[in-house]
Amino acid sequence: MNYERIELERDGPVARVWLNRPEVRNAFDGLMVTELRKCLFELKDDDEVRVIVLGGRGVAFCAGADLQWMKAMASAGHDENLREAQALADLFFTVYESPKPIVCRVHGAALGGGAGLVAASDIPVASFGTQFGFTEVRLGILPAVISPYVLRKIGESAARELFLTGERFEAVKAQEIGLVRAAVPIEDLDGAVYGRVQELLKSGPKAMAEAKALIREVAFQRVEDLQRYTVEAIAEIRVSPEGQEGMRAFLEKRKPGWAL
Ligand code: COA
Repeated sequence: MNYERIELERDGPVARVWLNRPEVRNAFDGLMVTELRKCLFELKDDDEVRVIVLGGRGVAFCAGADLQWMKAMASAGHDENLREAQALADLFFTVYESPKPIVCRVHGAALGGGAGLVAASDIPVASFGTQFGFTEVRLGILPAVISPYVLRKIGESAARELFLTGERFEAVKAQEIGLVRAAVPIEDLDGAVYGRVQELLKSGPKAMAEAKALIREVAFQRVEDLQRYTVEAIAEIRVSPEGQEGMRAFLEKRKPGWAL
């Protein structure tokens, strides 16, 4: 499938998805939102692909929503505004619930919705000097649809400071508050991403998808309400072909079938 706003590179079990609108620092408009979502759906059903890397072409990862596009929404009616906002919310949810792990390769800038993509991904790795920020309030708008993902990563304390000031901050602080998992020199960024991908390729594909579902389910429920779910999850996966192969491989002192 050909895309205008993104680029998809396949490399065996790894799919690299590039935001590809460098002239506006990969700011996303309606077309990019649609294409990115379509692409993630395509990858979801592709058994060959086991890990997704999300990055940005040009000097920055993503400058968030296209402000021309957002501004133009003043001439649309409330229903159309709701539809566009829903499409945006659906994109972040698609990233968040992707059964294939998403490693985010972050450089240059990740602002507004760009920081939202980082928050919705599984393992974001950033280069030193990357500008992060929830700049929306400085533009008189809100980090609304990204807030559930950001809050889950950075918590209320940091969100109160950063959502209210809209100030920009650097990769080291992004790591300190839990928005990214690692901050490295730019020349080491691809190596750090590669390292994460290699670790993920050691994991059972189905087990990773189930582990993501487990995190989503377990994070915000009472322990006693979770017993049935967690008991069923382990009871099912340990007798599944993948679970059996993983445990057998360990006991036989060999790599499991999926390991490269
Ligand atoms: N929406 C629309 N256009 C954007 C954009 C956005 N979110 N971010 C950048 N652009 C455009 C700029 O207007 C500029 O267009 P021009 O060439 O027609 O003047 C072009 O992209 C390059 O931006 P520039 O600021 O010159 O690039 P830079 O490399 O010096 O800085 C950023 C990059 C991302 C740090 C800077 O563009 C920025 O701060 N953008 C605003 C990001 C923001 O607050 N996003 C939140 C949206 S909710």
